[in-house]
Parts: sequence; C-alpha cells; structure tokens
Amino acid sequence: MPKTFDIGIDALAGASEPSVPAATFAATPENASAADSVAGAGKSFFIETFGCQMNVHDSEKVAGVLLARGYRPASNAAHADLMLYNTCSIREKAAQKVFSRLGELRGERRKIIGVLGCLAQQEGEEIFERAPWVSLVCGSASYRKLPELITQLEAGGRRVMGLDLEVDETFETEITRRDNPIRAYITIIEGCDYACSYCVVPHTRGPERSRASDSVLSEARRLADAGYTEIQLLGQTVNSYRDPSPRKLGFVELLREVASVAGIRRVRFTTSHPNDFHRDIVDAIDSTPALCDHIHLPVQSGSTRVLREMRRTYTREQYLEKISWIRSARRPISVTSDVIVGFPGETEQDFEESVTLLESVGYDGVYAFVYSPRPNTTAAAMPDAIPEAEKSRRLAILQERQRQIQLARNERLVGETFEVLVDGHNAARAQWTGRSTSNRVINFTSSHESLLGEYVQVRVTRAAPHSLIGEHMPQA
Ligand code: 5AD
Ligand code: SF4
Repeated sequence: MPKTFDIGIDALAGASEPSVPAATFAATPENASAADSVAGAGKSFFIETFGCQMNVHDSEKVAGVLLARGYRPASNAAHADLMLYNTCSIREKAAQKVFSRLGELRGERRKIIGVLGCLAQQEGEEIFERAPWVSLVCGSASYRKLPELITQLEAGGRRVMGLDLEVDETFETEITRRDNPIRAYITIIEGCDYACSYCVVPHTRGPERSRASDSVLSEARRLADAGYTEIQLLGQTVNSYRDPSPRKLGFVELLREVASVAGIRRVRFTTSHPNDFHRDIVDAIDSTPALCDHIHLPVQSGSTRVLREMRRTYTREQYLEKISWIRSARRPISVTSDVIVGFPGETEQDFEESVTLLESVGYDGVYAFVYSPRPNTTAAAMPDAIPEAEKSRRLAILQERQRQIQLARNERLVGETFEVLVDGHNAARAQWTGRSTSNRVINFTSSHESLLGEYVQVRVTRAAPHSLIGEHMPQA
C-alpha cells in the first residue's frame, strides 16, 4: 500500500468541506524520506496555470517533482520563493496574458521565476530577453529534465532551459500533487502528430508519445485506493493512444481496463480526434456503465472546404457519419465540440455551414473561438484574413445559435433524474453543484449539510442554456 500525503483541497473553488475523499498524492516510502533531505527543503513554490486540462495536470505533476525535492506549497504567489507559470499559447490572447503577468514581476529579485509549457516552448530564449527576471524556461516535452534544471537553479543558475522537442518519453512522476479532490486526471498520450494548419500544439508539445498501459493502470489503481472514483484520461488526441509496451492495448481496450478498476465509477476521456474515432468507442460506452456517456469531438468547421484548408483529415459528411454512430447507441451520449470561426478565406457560406452543422448534430456544448494566427503554423501565411470585427460578428451569431440549441436540449431533460457527483457548494445561493455522467452541470438544493464528493440523485426542475437546476432526491 503506497504511503500517501494529504494536501489542502482549498485549491478547488468551493471545496472546503471535510467529507471529500482525501486529495492525495501517492509516494513510495523511499521517496517520501528522500523528500526530507534535499536541497529545496524549506523553500516554497507556487504554480499559476493557464490553458487546458493537460496543463492543469502537468502542473500537478510539476508540483510533485518539487515536493519530492523538499519544496512546500506556498499559500499564495506573494509568499513563494519559486514562482512558476505554466503557460498556454493556443491563441494570441492566451500568450499576451502570460506576458502581461510576467510584466507585473518586473525587477523582482526575491523570487526565482520560471516559465513552463507552451509559451515557454514557443518563445524559448526570447522570454529571457523580454523578461530578464525569468531564470527558467522549460517546455512540456522536457519536464523529465525538471529535477536536473531545478538543481542548476538551486546552484545559482540564472538562465536555465529545457526546450528539446525530440523526445520519445512521457512525463511520469513519483509524486503527483492533485489539486482536484473529486476528479483525477491521468495523461495517457502526450504531443500530437497531426498538423492542423492553425495549431501550435505540434510545435509546443512535440510528437505524439503514448504511455505504457501498465503504468496507466497502476496509477488508476493507486487513485482508487486513495479514494478517487472519477478518472479523466487526457491527451491532445486521446483516442490515438497506442500502448508502447508488449501488451499493445488499443485505446478502447485501455478504456475498458481502466473502467474495470475496483472503486472507479466514472471514466472520462478528452480530447478525441474525429479521424481516430471509430465505432468501437461507442460500443464500449454502450456496454460499460463506468464509461461516461459524453464525447468531446471537436469539428472545428462545418465546411469541407475549410476543413481541407485546416488539414483536419475528414469531411463534413465523414464527421456526421461518426455522429450517427453515437446517435444510434442504446445509451444517450452527450456530444460537445470546438469550432473556429474566421479561418482565412472562410466565406459567408462556409460559416453558414458551421451554423447548420451545430443544428444537424445538436451539440450539448460548444467552445467557439475566433481564429488567431499563430507562429510556425501554415495558416498564419494564408491569404484572405477575415477582419477582426467580422470574426467577432460570426462568433456572436454562432454562440447565440448554440445557446438556443442547448436551451432546447436541456428543457427536454426537465423532470428527469440524474446521478450527480457533487463537486462544489455555493453558500450565497444555498446550492450544491455537480456533474452528471454526461458532464452536464447540475445545480441543486438539498437539506443535507455535507455532500461534497458524494453521488446523489437529482431531479431536474428547470433548464438554463449552460446548466440544469434541480432538487436532491434522497434515496429511501
Ligand atoms: N485560433 C483559434 N482557435 C484555435 N484552437 C486551436 N488553435 C487555434 C487558433 N489558432 C482551438 C481549437 C482547438 C481548441 C483547443 O482551441 O478549436 O480544438
Ligand atoms: Fe492541434 Fe490538430 Fe493536434 Fe488538435 S489534432 S492538437 S488541433 S494539431
């Protein structure tokens, strides 16, 4: 049985009740004692994370690396000796946000400041030029080198870098400090081998590499032992997973094995690429109750012409065929997506096709973005850029249409009862909040005082576009 450490769960907004499964990070007794005698002992760290769930989870693992070296978490950024920014550069705005945050630290001398993640990889040494008070720059493909880089920092290193992209290994840590006491993330595949013309990820996260299935499964079992019941498998293209070990499990086999770990009640996975989305994923969800009835399947555009320019590798019709497999499942499965508007050369008709696709699919949620040109991407050099005002107009139209679709879909759920895993409490509204297996947010009232981390039955009484409202139906 691995030794476990408790950490504060206050990092999760609203999660301050004692009834949650202990948020833990597992460590072997060996590395636990090593933590007492290493160089970082006594120093504190704080990590601010920008961007996607992959980044959120990378930060949990980076925190584990630091804890293993004797660092302790600071209660806030101001008190930290080591301040790390785990950054995102998927859109220009995300990158600007990081630079403005770094600007706030101008002249800072007390802290060691590091920039991790996608912006670090994208800008490299340039970051030292723009923010000379930064001493560490490290992309996610080099996180394995972090202990070594931190040793250099501790020895007084002023410009320490990890920017190698040619890696074939994944980032595995002995300790992971999990901030979310309800849902545990496990990365199963890193990087991306697609080459979507708008996207920086292949340049910032490097080539695709999958993690050995035994390693994934033993982490899932450790998490179940620590009290977690919900696991989310992560990857930029999660369903491209290919087990590099002799067992050679495919994605669906891995899904089924994780779902059969004793104590695990919910397994989610994100993000799926339509090209690697096959019928067997739907069959697995249909036949395995622990696999959640939700698929995030980003389409990006409803126009086959734009999809070709985006190098998405599928047509509108091929995408819709995959949706038809999902719709023919015995279990209703909720579907969400990402859409980009204003890609170079997107005509009014192309845009209309994205809007009609929303209607044809009937998504339960859509993240819509205006196209943002990114460095090192082929789309950045494409002609016929769409003016910003026009991109914004299209975004507003698409979001409004999707809002109506969601409201109509949610209204059909009034009167139904869902199992909700409770993950928060809003004291001001006297409401609990949680998610159904289909990943719908459900806010509800209850006479119970302590529900965090519990599975409860909630009857939907009202629908809003982005959430459901309901009441707790205590079981007899
Ligand atoms: N501009 C706008 N949106 C983008 N995305 C990725 N790259 C860009 C870009 N250059 C969106 C895609 C992706 C999501 C994570 O971010 O929709 O699925
Ligand atoms: Fe980016 Fe395309 Fe890879 Fe997704 S599949 S990370 S959008 S390049």
